Amino acid sequence: MKCFSVSWVLLALWFLSVSSQNISESGLHQASFPPRGWNSYDSFCWTISEEEFLQSAEIVSQRLKAHGYQFVVVDYLWYRKKVKGAYPDSLGFDVIDKWGRMVPDPGRWPSSIGGKGFSEVANKVHSMGLKFGIHVMRGISTQAVNANTPILDTTKGGAYEESGRVWRAKDIAMPERACSWMRNGFMSVNTKLEAGRAFLRSLYEQYAAWGVDLVKHDCVFGDDLDLNEITYVSEVLNKLNRPILYSLSPGATVTPAMAKDVSGLVNMYRITGDDWDKWADVRAHFDVTRDFSTANMIGGKGLKGNSWPDLDMLPFGWLTDPGSNEGPHRYSNLNLEEQRTQMTLWSLAKSPLMYGGDVRKIDPTTYELITNPTLLEINYFSSNNMEFPYITSSNNLKHPGGKKRRPKKGIKASYTQSLGLTRCSESKASGWSIESLNQELERICWKRSLENKHQAPFCVHKRELQFRLDGESMYQEDYRGKHQLVATDKMNFCLNGSPKHKVTSNEFKRGTFSPCGWDSNQIWELNSNGTLVNSYSGLCATVEYVEANANSGGVRSWIATGRKGEIYLAFFNLSEQKTVIYAKTSYLAKVLPDRTIDSCKGKEVWSGKEVLTTHGTISMNVGIHGCALFVLYCH
Ligand SMILES: *[C@@H]1O[C@H](CO)[C@@H](O)[C@H](O)[C@H]1NC(C)=O
Ligand SMILES: *[C@@H]1O[C@H](CO)[C@@H](O)[C@H](O)[C@H]1NC(C)=O
Repeated sequence: MKCFSVSWVLLALWFLSVSSQNISESGLHQASFPPRGWNSYDSFCWTISEEEFLQSAEIVSQRLKAHGYQFVVVDYLWYRKKVKGAYPDSLGFDVIDKWGRMVPDPGRWPSSIGGKGFSEVANKVHSMGLKFGIHVMRGISTQAVNANTPILDTTKGGAYEESGRVWRAKDIAMPERACSWMRNGFMSVNTKLEAGRAFLRSLYEQYAAWGVDLVKHDCVFGDDLDLNEITYVSEVLNKLNRPILYSLSPGATVTPAMAKDVSGLVNMYRITGDDWDKWADVRAHFDVTRDFSTANMIGGKGLKGNSWPDLDMLPFGWLTDPGSNEGPHRYSNLNLEEQRTQMTLWSLAKSPLMYGGDVRKIDPTTYELITNPTLLEINYFSSNNMEFPYITSSNNLKHPGGKKRRPKKGIKASYTQSLGLTRCSESKASGWSIESLNQELERICWKRSLENKHQAPFCVHKRELQFRLDGESMYQEDYRGKHQLVATDKMNFCLNGSPKHKVTSNEFKRGTFSPCGWDSNQIWELNSNGTLVNSYSGLCATVEYVEANANSGGVRSWIATGRKGEIYLAFFNLSEQKTVIYAKTSYLAKVLPDRTIDSCKGKEVWSGKEVLTTHGTISMNVGIHGCALFVLYCH
């Protein structure tokens, strides 16, 4: 009888967990699992049309929905006319309504004609059993600012008035906070003004009225941090009757400390720059992902539910190029090994899975990879997800499981200094000091580099701000004590506190100088405690010593536990040569609470090979950029 009831309980539990995989997100608890879906960016850049989007949604519904891929998301610039001269940073081609809000380009989105916005598209998407997402930018468009449109007060359905006058776009816009990678497109709005908040409210209430289920809010996080806007948008979404998932993008140079401010306000947030189909991009995710799992940020508390560090879309299959004016026209540059590595890391880190390739031309190999049942099980249901540090590797293939294992010797390390951004409260932000070279010239140096005789010091020169005498002088007061920083060899090149878009955090670390102009991205202030703070992002500059060859080598491993007690163990070979990777089974217990492990058996997922531990060791020969994934039953 006891046995009988236990198996009933187990059966019931099994049923609950299996069916929950198909339960759509309820409004009660958002993003219980890492969100899954398809996004148009990797295959269409900004150029997608309504017809192409709905064709794609239909295929997602037929072939991917059953695997949890639930969202279909239109990425950026859906309001831009696709005509000669229009491109991602062009100015003057956007379609806005009389309140300065973006509306879909009727040329590409014919169902929007007559003020219907995205409501018909959202209806069709919902009738396919899917959820509809859109990409939006920070603040307000330059086009609305130039037209100085009035602001809509949604509480009374007319123009926003305060102090006896109608408020307009120019009253709330912050031109000195233009989006650093789309300077002509968008700028922040001042959320300290009630009129600024009214404008943001008018946007998000309209998205809800259209039937939007997810917003991907861009140019407000990472190097482009605008915590005020994120906080206010989250507040607006929280008050809506309609559940809308809140996603932030991109996240170049984000650290867990920085992300802690936003994690509770959103449902997913990018932790890297854009990920494209380059091995360096995949490789750049390993360290940052480890840091977020160590900091316990995976599946934290979020807006009306959970919040997930997002490793970005999966650029597999038929794609376009970043920032291009073209639709899909080429295959992914990642080989199958590299794609498996990406998919395995994304799954083990419980990242949202957003497929980026053209679903209309998805090939069987790509389809099998993104619907791999083991990976999708890990992505939703695993726990204790973390990097597993206790591995060794060897290039000597003659001693598998052998006694003479020794860690692989690194290539002789050489270090380079590189500029990064970090939170100002972190100790590694402090270390800048100023000295006068002559009456006119002062330089600011990273003092730790001055202490090292063998290294050229990392220095920049101070350059006074040159204010123009037009409307911008109203900001002069805000910039007292602040200045630009110029390269020591090129005085007209200013240091940016925010990199170009579409770079991985790895690429950014070099720091960027660009021709000096007028924007807060290039304005800095030296605090008395030796921190150098950027006026745009509020982040501080730091100099890091990075291994020059850090990108080329290394083996990694990740571990997680499954809901039936199984252990998932992945080996990654990030090096340029084939390697045998070893883990001792007794070490698995070191990182898994309440387990003692003696021996394990199971399967390797990609080869289908049975795995038996010999001498208490699991080992596998892993190819260049490849991975092995074990599903183990241990006792
Ligand atoms: C340095 O001072 C600034 C401004 O007072 C402060 O925000 C920051 O947290 C301080 N940082 C450190 C490392 O002491
Ligand atoms: C990594 O792959 C390369 C190329 O196949 C191989 O030579 C090397 O032994 C592999 N390393 C590991 C740890 O498997």
